[in-house]
Amino acid sequence: MVKLSIVQFTPLWANKTQNLERIASLIRGLESDIIVLPELCTTGYSFLKKTEALDEAEDTSGKSIAFFREAAVAKKAMIIAGFAERDRENVYNSAVAALPDGSVKIYRKTHLFFKETLCFEPGNSGFYVIEHPLVDCKVGMMVCNDWRYPEAARSLALLGADLIACPSNLVSTLWGVGMPARALENKVYLAVANRCGTEIRMLEDGADQKLTFNGGSVVYDFNGSPLVKAASDEDAVLTSLIDPVLTRDKHFNAYNDLIKDRRPDQYYLG
Ligand code: ACM
Repeated sequence: MVKLSIVQFTPLWANKTQNLERIASLIRGLESDIIVLPELCTTGYSFLKKTEALDEAEDTSGKSIAFFREAAVAKKAMIIAGFAERDRENVYNSAVAALPDGSVKIYRKTHLFFKETLCFEPGNSGFYVIEHPLVDCKVGMMVCNDWRYPEAARSLALLGADLIACPSNLVSTLWGVGMPARALENKVYLAVANRCGTEIRMLEDGADQKLTFNGGSVVYDFNGSPLVKAASDEDAVLTSLIDPVLTRDKHFNAYNDLIKDRRPDQYYLG
C-alpha cells in the first residue's frame, strides 16, 4: 500500500516567504510516500498580467523548488506542488514533482483558465508518468482546469499512471462532477489538492476582482468514490492508503477492458 497525502491551505498572494513557512508547518512530521499541494501554492493565484507573474516566477534553481527538493529528500517522499515557473521571458503555470533522490520533474499546465491566459504560456511539457523510486506507484500530473479535458487524464492513463496528482485552485463546484469521472473512466486514483480562501485584487477600472476557492480537496479511488475529503474553507492535511496495483488490470467485467476496448479508428479527435 502507498501512503498518499493531500494538503489544503490558503496561500497569500505574492508572499512566497509566508507561503513556504505555512507549507513547512503543515507538512512538519508528516510521513507519506506522496504529498500533493495546490496549484500556484507558493505565490497565490490572482495574477492580472504577465509582468506580475514574471515578478513572482522562479526557475528550477529558485527557492520554492529548493524547498520542495529538500523536503522530498528528508521525507523520502514524492512531493507535487504548483508554482509559477520562469523560463527566460516565459512564465508557465507549472507543477513540480520533487523526488526523494533530489531530482525534480516539471509539468506545465496545458489548459489555462480565465486570466491565466493573459499571464502564462500554454504548457509545452506534455503529459508523462513518473515511477516513484521507493514504492510501486506510477504518478502523472495535471493541473486544475486540465480536468475539463478528458484527453489529459486519458493520456496519463494510457501512459500507465496509477495515480493522477492534480494541484488545483478551483473556483466553481462543477469539478465535483468531472473529477470523479476522470478517475472512473481511466480506472486510476485521482488526488485533487485544492486551496481555500478568497483573493481580492483591484482592477484598472477600480473594481474588485474577487475569487473564492472552494477547498474540498479529495482523493478519489479508481471508481470515482472519495477516500478522504476536506471541508470547503479550512486548512487540512488528509492521508489515505492506496493500492496502485489494483489500477493496472483495466477489466471491469470478464468481457470488458477499459483501455483495450477503445476504438480509436471510430473516434473523431478534431
Ligand atoms: C483553474 O484552472 N485554476 C480553475
